[in-house]
Amino acid sequence: MKWEGLIAQYRDFLPVTDKTPVITLREGNTPFIHAPFLSQKIGLDVYLKHEGTNPTGSFKDRGMTMAISKAAEKKAVAVMCASTGNTSASAAAYAARAKMKCIVLIPDGNIALGKLAQAMIHSAHVIAIRGNFDEALTLVKDITSKYPIELVNSLNPFRIEGQKTAAFEICDFLQHAPTFHAIPVGNAGNITAYWKGYKEYHQIKKTGLPRMLGFQAAKSAPIVDGHIIDKPETIATAIRIGNPASWKSAEAARDESQGLIDKVTDEEILDAYKLLAQKEGVFVEPASAASVAGVLKLHNANFFHGQKGSIVCTLTGHGLKDPNLVINNIAQPVVVEPTLQSILKEIGI
Ligand code: F0G
Repeated sequence: MKWEGLIAQYRDFLPVTDKTPVITLREGNTPFIHAPFLSQKIGLDVYLKHEGTNPTGSFKDRGMTMAISKAAEKKAVAVMCASTGNTSASAAAYAARAKMKCIVLIPDGNIALGKLAQAMIHSAHVIAIRGNFDEALTLVKDITSKYPIELVNSLNPFRIEGQKTAAFEICDFLQHAPTFHAIPVGNAGNITAYWKGYKEYHQIKKTGLPRMLGFQAAKSAPIVDGHIIDKPETIATAIRIGNPASWKSAEAARDESQGLIDKVTDEEILDAYKLLAQKEGVFVEPASAASVAGVLKLHNANFFHGQKGSIVCTLTGHGLKDPNLVINNIAQPVVVEPTLQSILKEIGI
C-alpha cells in the first residue's frame, strides 16, 4: 500500500477540503507490535502502538500535520506553542516545511535534550522560561489570543482531529477496537483524541469501543488527585503537567468508556521503560512507558482477571529523544584495554 500520510489516508474523517494545502511528512501508519512477554504475563493479547516512529519521533506529528495544514489554509505566517519538548519538535519541523515562523515556550532545564535539539535545528524561536509547562501554556494562550499567531497546542481542535487517526489505524489492524486502550496522560489531548477516534469509527464501521485506561505520573497527577498540582514533578518530563488543558474531556473519555485514570510512580515508569527495551526490544521515552507501567500496576491488582481480548498500549515517543536518561541512570559501557585477553576476560570466556 502506498502511504501518503494520515490526511490522505483518512481524508473522509478529517475537516479538510480541496482548499487545504496538505503539509505532511508522511506521518502515521506506525508499527503495531504484538508484545509476547507482556501478553504472557498479563494473559491478554498486548499490543504496542509505537508512535515514536513518526517523522519527528512522537505522536505529535499526527496532530501537527492537521494543525499546520489548517494554519496554511488560513495563510498564517506564525505558529506558537508551549511544550515539554515533543510538541515543539513537531511544530518546528512542520512549520519549517510550511515556511512559517515557529515560536516555542519551554520550561527551562526540563525538556529532554533530543527534543530541544530538534526545535533548534528546525530553526524555531525557542524561549525557555523560568517556570513550568502550565505557566508556559498560560502565556501562549494569552499571546495567541491577542496577536495573529496560530496556537498549535492541543487546545487547537485540529490537533485532536489528526491525533484521533491512531485509533483508526488500530481498528483497521485488528478489524475491531481492542478491549482496553492504555495511554499516558499529560495535557490530556491524546486520550481525548483516541476516544473521539474510536467513537467516530464505531459509528461508521461498528468496530466497538475500548475501555480507556489513562496514566499520569504520581507527582504530576492532577486528574487522579482531583486538584491542580502547582509544582508537578516526574522523571518523565513530557508529562510533567499540573493543570491539563483537556482535563474535562479526559474525564469524559474515562467515564464514557467505563475506563479509569490512575497514576504510576517514577519507579514504576522506569521499570516499564527497561522492560519494554529489554523484553520487547522497543526503546521509548520514559513518559511513553507510563502506559505499560499502568497496565502492569493494574495486572498486579488483579484488574484483568477473567478478562478476554486485547490491550493496546500507546508508546508516545521514541527513546532516542532522551538518551541522557539511560547513560546517566541505567548503564554505561565497560572500558577495557584493546587486547584479546581483556575482552575474553570481560565476557567470561
Ligand atoms: N507522551 C509524550 C512522549 C508526550 O510528549 C506527551 C505530551 C504525552 C505523552 C502526553 O500527551 O499531553 O496529549 O496527554 N507532550 C506535550 C508536549 C505536553 O509539549 O510535547 P497529552
